[in-house]
Amino acid sequence: MYLDHAATTPISAPALAALTSVITRSGNPSSLHGSGRRARATVEAARETIAAAAGAHPTEVIFTSGGTEADNLAVKGLFWSRRDAEPARTRILVSSVEHAAVQDTVEWLEKHEGAEAVWLPVHADGTLDLAALEKELADGGADSVALLSCMWANNEVGTIQPIAEVVALAGRHGIPVHSDAVQAFGSIPVDFRESGLAAMSISGHKIGGPVGVGALLLGRAVKLTPVQHGGGQERTVRSGTLDTAGIAAFAAAAADVTGNLAAESARIAGLRDDVIAAVRRLVPEAVLRGADPAVNPAGRLPGNAHFTFPGCEGDSLLFLLDMAGIESSTGSACTAGVPRPSHVLLAMGLDEDTARGAQRFSLGHTSTPEDVDAFAAALPDAHARAKTAGMAAHVSSIETASTFR
Ligand SMILES: Cc1ncc(COP(=O)(O)O)c(C=O)c1O
Repeated sequence: MYLDHAATTPISAPALAALTSVITRSGNPSSLHGSGRRARATVEAARETIAAAAGAHPTEVIFTSGGTEADNLAVKGLFWSRRDAEPARTRILVSSVEHAAVQDTVEWLEKHEGAEAVWLPVHADGTLDLAALEKELADGGADSVALLSCMWANNEVGTIQPIAEVVALAGRHGIPVHSDAVQAFGSIPVDFRESGLAAMSISGHKIGGPVGVGALLLGRAVKLTPVQHGGGQERTVRSGTLDTAGIAAFAAAAADVTGNLAAESARIAGLRDDVIAAVRRLVPEAVLRGADPAVNPAGRLPGNAHFTFPGCEGDSLLFLLDMAGIESSTGSACTAGVPRPSHVLLAMGLDEDTARGAQRFSLGHTSTPEDVDAFAAALPDAHARAKTAGMAAHVSSIETASTFR
């Protein structure tokens, strides 16, 4: 039972059909002969489809290898271009709950390019503290800001950010806003033009397309310094031979998900609510993190349920559920196999011990009520065993600490 759609979701039937039909054809879309022109026509049709699905103009679609590359291109590209035009603009305002593709990029710019990050605080449910942003901008520092980056929806706790308000506040000071919409696009309505964003990242494999393709939507007037150099494809902003088959499949997936968005997101939200109800019934001490859909249905992604389980290590629960055939996630990445508490949960005000008990259950287009039933059947035993293991680990770490004191 796959409850990890936020990590990647299975390829959809229309995407698979597009991929398999196009991948057998040869032709570089930059070549001028017949095969090249045919590949170019496929890419341009896909560009129009993605633009329509995301509320953008086709010329605003810059194909990339995925969300990570789109985030790097937006954050580095906007930073360099704005700082080069006005050297005083070295500050990057960024939410403290970003995916590593943005967070680590900002930290890299701090270390190597003289950037100064301003990590914007969030409320307990993970939404950006707009008053703190307003204060940051009003305190006279806006003239030194290169860009603001705030994700559309969080990959761990599913919190949907007030993007319209963020763009309005930044807009008063002429600050371009980038949003990582990798989790939002295909899950909730996302309209690039209406949002007023300067740049927005999306990814194929989160919406039923293949892994290894994504896009940066980039306003036509927005100047961006390229990260990689070469043949000058994609408005000279992103060089590299285009992956025609991957792009065609990405477009087919985008058309599929956005064409049926309202009905499918309601179906998935219903299953998500069943997962939440099951956890609350079976493990009453577990705490839902992020917005409670019963109180604020628009505040949470339809496919996301995220809990902390007191006294459990998220990894133990993950492995025990996996042994019972349920695939979930702790929600946050670990470095070299060392689990660290999620920076998202810490930013939301949790202490490290509580944050270690995190588990994300995410649903998608292949999810069924049977998945939820199987999950509910497996949870009590997996939880009881994870809790026993968690207590043992806690006692042994206290013993270890006192041995070395
Ligand atoms: C919010 C967010 N941004 C960026 C990424 C990276 O996207 P990709 O896997 O396409 O590089 C992910 C994937 O986990 C994500 O959830």
